[in-house]
Amino acid sequence: MNHETVFAAFRSASGNDAEAAAYAPGRVNLIGEHTDYNDGFVLPAAVDRGVALAARRVAGDTFRLHAVDLGQSCDFARAGLERDPERPWADYFKGVVWALSRRGIDVPTCEACVSGDIPQGAGLSSSAAYEVATTLLLGALGGFELSSLETAKLAREAENGFVGVACGIMDPMASVFGQQGRALWLDCRSLARQTVKLPPGLKIVVVNSGVRHSLASSEYNQRRAECDEGVRTLASSVPEVRALRDVTPEQLEPCSAALGVTVGKRCRHVVSENARVEQTVSAMRSGDVTQLKSLMAESHRSLRDDYEVSCLELDVLVELALALPFCHGARLTGAGFGGSTVNLVEVEAVEAFSRSITDGYSERCHRAAEIHVFEPSAGARVLTDGLPA
Ligand code: GLA
Repeated sequence: MNHETVFAAFRSASGNDAEAAAYAPGRVNLIGEHTDYNDGFVLPAAVDRGVALAARRVAGDTFRLHAVDLGQSCDFARAGLERDPERPWADYFKGVVWALSRRGIDVPTCEACVSGDIPQGAGLSSSAAYEVATTLLLGALGGFELSSLETAKLAREAENGFVGVACGIMDPMASVFGQQGRALWLDCRSLARQTVKLPPGLKIVVVNSGVRHSLASSEYNQRRAECDEGVRTLASSVPEVRALRDVTPEQLEPCSAALGVTVGKRCRHVVSENARVEQTVSAMRSGDVTQLKSLMAESHRSLRDDYEVSCLELDVLVELALALPFCHGARLTGAGFGGSTVNLVEVEAVEAFSRSITDGYSERCHRAAEIHVFEPSAGARVLTDGLPA
């Protein structure tokens, strides 16, 4: 996202110059799926696409927000903030105003515009990027600054408490702490993190299946509830278990009868996926691409068979990718139930990869695959370049 673009967009929407602007990237998760809300490990990377906002303060108590890409605007009052099904795109901004106000922070009334270039519906976390960028924007405008960690937590609070989506901490953390050329290893309990270099010569290629299941959010909540049920059952025989993060494969095994088939499978995915994240970090650090490919393939199988969040289209995309010798990893990324796959592809072979996948997918699923090549990128920031003097 180009800085000048968002300032120019603000000028044309409002007729005035902006006083502050901020940008936050989307993310792709390399491995560690459905582990964040189980206090586990994840390995996302911020991507070189994101959401930018620009704003200026206005008098009174009514905010005005312009969605540049949709050509829509809306006004809303500070008091009685509520979601608007007619303009759901404003809910993320309102959610941040709501979360800041709950902390007793004096949020400046403003006119703002928002614009983004993250592919929609592809599971690349445009909502977390939007909330993180809004938090930075309002801080820059109002003269308050939250720490990076508080910014990520506030973005999640806005999403959970106002927008009403029960997501974990991975997405805003990736958006805030992303680093160029690196993935982010994150412990979702302690929030300790490390950056991990991508093996040289590999590109992150995301393939959007174009499929989005309408039950995604209810299925997501159901998986969370099944994990909670698993924790309750496991804690009755291993009292120190507070989350699935605390369970080893050896502890899980003898509890399978008590857990029952479905909850047992959900737990097996989470416990094995946590171990795979740690192994993936080692494989990336030692450049062991064979191991990388098998860990990502195993993650996909586990999401498909044990966690049951894949679908035919994602399975086909992964199968096609794994058959290509220049592809060193493929799996579904994000929540699943449609969305995208993430692939690690040799730089010189990205075109050949795209061609094979597009042709194979159209032949097998009669659908168009949308291909995006990403650079792991730096995290969210206040924009000052291009700010009118
Ligand atoms: C969504 C959520 C994340 C995470 C993933 C699954 O993207 O927003 O918090 O739970 O699903 O790994």
